[in-house]
Amino acid sequence: MEYRVDPVKRIAGRIAPPPDKSISHRALMVGAMCDGSVRLENLLDAADVRSTQAAVQQLGAVVGEGVISGVGLRGVGEPDCTIDVGNAGTLMRLLPGWLAGQEGKRFKLDGDQSIRNRPVDRIAEPLGQMGARIEMRDEHYPPLSVEGTALQAIEYRLPVASAQVKSCILFAGLQAQGTTVVIEPTPSRDHTERMLRRAGASVEIEADGEGGRRIAIVAPESLSLDRVTVPGDFSSAAYALVAAVITEGSELVLEGVGVNRTRTGLLGVLERMGAIVSGDVESAGKASDTDEPVSDLGVKQSDLVATKVGSEEVPMMIDELPLVALLGVFARGETVITGAKELRFKESDRIAAVVDGLKGLGAVIEATDDGFVVDGTGSLRGGTIDAGGDHRLAMLGAIAGLVSSEGVTVRNMESVEISYPDFISDLESVVVR
Ligand code: S3P
Repeated sequence: MEYRVDPVKRIAGRIAPPPDKSISHRALMVGAMCDGSVRLENLLDAADVRSTQAAVQQLGAVVGEGVISGVGLRGVGEPDCTIDVGNAGTLMRLLPGWLAGQEGKRFKLDGDQSIRNRPVDRIAEPLGQMGARIEMRDEHYPPLSVEGTALQAIEYRLPVASAQVKSCILFAGLQAQGTTVVIEPTPSRDHTERMLRRAGASVEIEADGEGGRRIAIVAPESLSLDRVTVPGDFSSAAYALVAAVITEGSELVLEGVGVNRTRTGLLGVLERMGAIVSGDVESAGKASDTDEPVSDLGVKQSDLVATKVGSEEVPMMIDELPLVALLGVFARGETVITGAKELRFKESDRIAAVVDGLKGLGAVIEATDDGFVVDGTGSLRGGTIDAGGDHRLAMLGAIAGLVSSEGVTVRNMESVEISYPDFISDLESVVVR
């Protein structure tokens, strides 16, 4: 589907962003591991999360309206066919951690064309060290087969900070003999740690003295959760937020946004660039049943200066980096992102896709091996951008259209179904033409 976005006068109003995708995936997977039922409030209804729901149902969990009945930590049923993860990298990387400990059972996971190009050796390596039997295509890519075995705890230092790989190892640690330790070089999103703790697992987190974190988990007897209420998705909210920052005369409120510090690196970057964003981020109240801080965020159009984003900030804003490229176009000076090679392994090669996409709209931007350099020219001509199958590129293109001089046509706009099905109507509700 093609979507045409014409330039707007300004952005004004309020948006409640969709429920958080990362937390929704985890609510279904951890819910499936629990004994008894778990109430699920405000679960994201989008393609990625539907893949996770179908997967846990294949494993024996029963999902009803707002509730999941788990199979228990060790009670997974062997499915009679391949688990289809669709486009969901989080499902492909997290679920094998649980399946690897299901002794004597076999599982196969596969997904769409984009998933088949995304490496899974990063989870196979630590799981293999724990004793899991895993096979992959060409030793790197899906389809991925797992044969469940008794697992041994390991201490594993992540070569690159990744919440997906960390979470996979923690899931395996829930069933391993001994204390499993994951060391991350810089903090990445910690939704798994928070949810597993609430479900009764012992999860100890300490600073490793070098800017990273050491997370230790011990296998519990069982897990149980009463309820999970999913907050609004910061990564989805970030599109309208950035649109308001760069569109003359705009003022916008984003309601009920999850502001877990391990997700909101973009706010620090926006502050450095001179953007006016208000919110109760430091003292945000935590939803009682998720331990996740939530706040409204207010934002006003602001004059921006360029900034540099380095590897220590990247994991806390990995999915928002394409938006920093767009911010850079409207900031005085040269905006430089480094240490973000992981972007090359997302739903698309997001360094190439963002650079080619924004260049095609008139931006002066160059790719580097691990990031990009953007010249703050202060304006964007417009044109056509093809999102391919990448939801975040589709939303970036649409936001670029609002602030362009000639408008933007986004090809493959339907990819927003992955994380933000109401993206177009939400955006339309706050634009003033
Ligand atoms: C996610 C972690 C990130 C992120 C992805 C969701 C998660 O991936 O890009 O969209 O839910 O754990 P990495 O951990 O591989 O960086």
